[in-house]
Amino acid sequence: MILLLGASGYIGSAFASELKRRKLDFLPLSRLQLDYSRFDLLLGFLRTKKPSFVINAAGYTGKPNVDACELDKAGTLVGNTLLPQTIAHACAVAGVPWGHVSSGCIYSGAKISGDGTVRVEKDMTQPALHALVEKKSTSVLGFTEADAPNFSFRNLPCSFYSGTKAMGEEAMAGIGQSYIWRLRIPFDEFDNQRNYLSKVQRYAKVYDNVNSISHRADFVKACLDTWELRAPFGCYNVTNPGYVTTRHVVEQIEKILKPARQFEFWKDDTEFYQTAAKTPRSNCVLDVSKLLSAGVKIRCVEEALEHSLKNWKSEN
Ligand SMILES: NC(=O)c1ccc[n+]([C@@H]2O[C@H](COP(=O)([O-])OP(=O)(O)OC[C@H]3O[C@@H](n4cnc5c(N)ncnc54)[C@H](OP(=O)(O)O)[C@@H]3O)[C@@H](O)[C@H]2O)c1
Repeated sequence: MILLLGASGYIGSAFASELKRRKLDFLPLSRLQLDYSRFDLLLGFLRTKKPSFVINAAGYTGKPNVDACELDKAGTLVGNTLLPQTIAHACAVAGVPWGHVSSGCIYSGAKISGDGTVRVEKDMTQPALHALVEKKSTSVLGFTEADAPNFSFRNLPCSFYSGTKAMGEEAMAGIGQSYIWRLRIPFDEFDNQRNYLSKVQRYAKVYDNVNSISHRADFVKACLDTWELRAPFGCYNVTNPGYVTTRHVVEQIEKILKPARQFEFWKDDTEFYQTAAKTPRSNCVLDVSKLLSAGVKIRCVEEALEHSLKNWKSEN
């Protein structure tokens, strides 16, 4: 049996659907049934139920966006740092391997290769760098799992949310057997206030930047595949290979969905942060070669984006 924590959430519910589709025996567990953030209660549960694997899709995400985490720092810390540490210790004591949903939002920017060197650029909106992104230059590289987070409490500035996600990864490091699965900006074909493609369509003005993004069902399939393939434990960036600019996403929305509205963009970061955002946003490109080398198959971002828009529907 696979124990699924946070099954009631946006990502947890996608894990539940995929586990059902694969006809795998699983047990969804909510804090309403058992406070799994308590070490003693979780360890007792693991010893009684003896799951073969635990999935942690629980965590604290700010709603409607990451700015909300700045208003509940204690809750954010509990959900994103203390919880994975507690699960890591309980699973290690019970001898159960597990996987944790982390986030790619612990990075900012991308890596740029040239002249035999590779440098980190935190702000990809600079015109010269944006031009490289637009022409899909091979000199634009993503952060790998070996790169230290550069948008974290150890490498400020960062949002409080991102800081706690990076700390969560640190807090579980070296304890027992686990996967860290880094999700980034989930999207799919189901209109939902949590879906990136829905958010873009509803923003009064759109913020343009470059990001690697994760199709929700592709993400959970890839995570489960790491376990089913018995990929080595450790950290994996789990996004659809490639990256997109928000401007390109808007162009695809206009082309495929043909909405009645016109899209406007924030002029620059200054206008965006003065008007629409409080805490710094992570925008980043991730490298997924480690995931692919482990034998996990995941379609490229362009294909996943086009498929989602061509199959656009309301959630239910
Ligand atoms: N959605 C995104 O944009 C995104 C992007 C990157 C990474 N992630 C990560 O993916 C994970 C799941 O995110 P999600 O979008 O599915 O979140 P969600 O919809 O808010 O669901 C999270 C679930 O976590 C459980 N939970 C346990 N401890 C919690 C706590 N202290 N505070 C709040 N919830 C707690 C809750 O389930 P019960 O109370 O029923 O147990 C809740 O339903 C999180 O770790 C998040 O950081 C999300």
